[in-house]
Amino acid sequence: MNILIINGPNLNMLGIREIDIYGNQSYLDLVKYLNELSKKYNIKIEIFQSNSEGEIIDKIQSAYFNKVDAIIINPAAYTHYSIAIFDAIKAVNIPTIEVHLSDIYHREDFRKINVIKSACIKSFYGKGFLSYGEAVEFLVGENNEIS
Ligand code: DQA
Repeated sequence: MNILIINGPNLNMLGIREIDIYGNQSYLDLVKYLNELSKKYNIKIEIFQSNSEGEIIDKIQSAYFNKVDAIIINPAAYTHYSIAIFDAIKAVNIPTIEVHLSDIYHREDFRKINVIKSACIKSFYGKGFLSYGEAVEFLVGENNEIS
């Protein structure tokens, strides 16, 4: 299985940004965590981070041409307003899981608006790095009841 993991704006600032919400582990720690998961489950992963909407859309489109099996995406703030990222996920028709470190449904009201969710087969949120871990486990079939 080959999975593309996309991280949106400001996730490169993990360990610096709002530590009370996102924790003190850095983006590099997240990358290490994901690489360990890929070894554990014997899957191929590509990890991509961008602060720009267009680059994220280009990456989603490239997943179609590169025959990626699944996408895990933390669209970060774009979750709440990017119809263009929603459209890109629909366009490639690749099973996509949305993840968030924090619980977006128990923060500011504007974070409760989620325009990405309905393009995805599943969402995991509020568990820090474990949200990504649960997404990987779901895809490799460890815990894959669609709800
Ligand atoms: C986030 C939640 C978003 O609301 C926020 O804009 C982020 C990170 C999360 O992982 O908890 O940048 O996606």
